[in-house]
Amino acid sequence: MTVTALAPAREMLAEIDAIIADHLRLEGPLLPILHGLQAAFGYIPAAAHAPIAQALNITRAELHGVISFYHDFRDKPAGRHVIKICRAEACQAVGAAALSDAVLAGLGLDWHGTTRDGRVTVEPVYCLGLCACGPAAMVDGALKGRVSPEMLLAELGA
Ligand code: FES
Repeated sequence: MTVTALAPAREMLAEIDAIIADHLRLEGPLLPILHGLQAAFGYIPAAAHAPIAQALNITRAELHGVISFYHDFRDKPAGRHVIKICRAEACQAVGAAALSDAVLAGLGLDWHGTTRDGRVTVEPVYCLGLCACGPAAMVDGALKGRVSPEMLLAELGA
């Protein structure tokens, strides 16, 4: 069962408990649990922190360290469209900084920000495997090479 971010708290807590229980017997269950939560909710709900810490016998600080280490884990819901712009070296060498500056300015966002209408979230990513075709980006899971700000914004109708 998938629950949206607007689900009633009791239903969300039940889903969180079910996801934790589903992965608890795995060796190294933390990352599978976090991936399961993000798949279900689109982010890692704060309400999941205490149950995870308790189930895995880790501190909430340790859990926070893991969540914040991996750029893919969100602490809030993303917009309906997600643009990930590569910030790794090869793309930086071919204009990724100018690309991201223009896209963020065009949407009025900072990194990890979501437009007020909930339409677009822009996130950094560190190599998409398209290094020879930089600057690279991903729009709703689709890889894009040699992108320009105009291309990305046009795809979103921005
Ligand atoms: S450095 Fe950007 S895709 Fe590899």
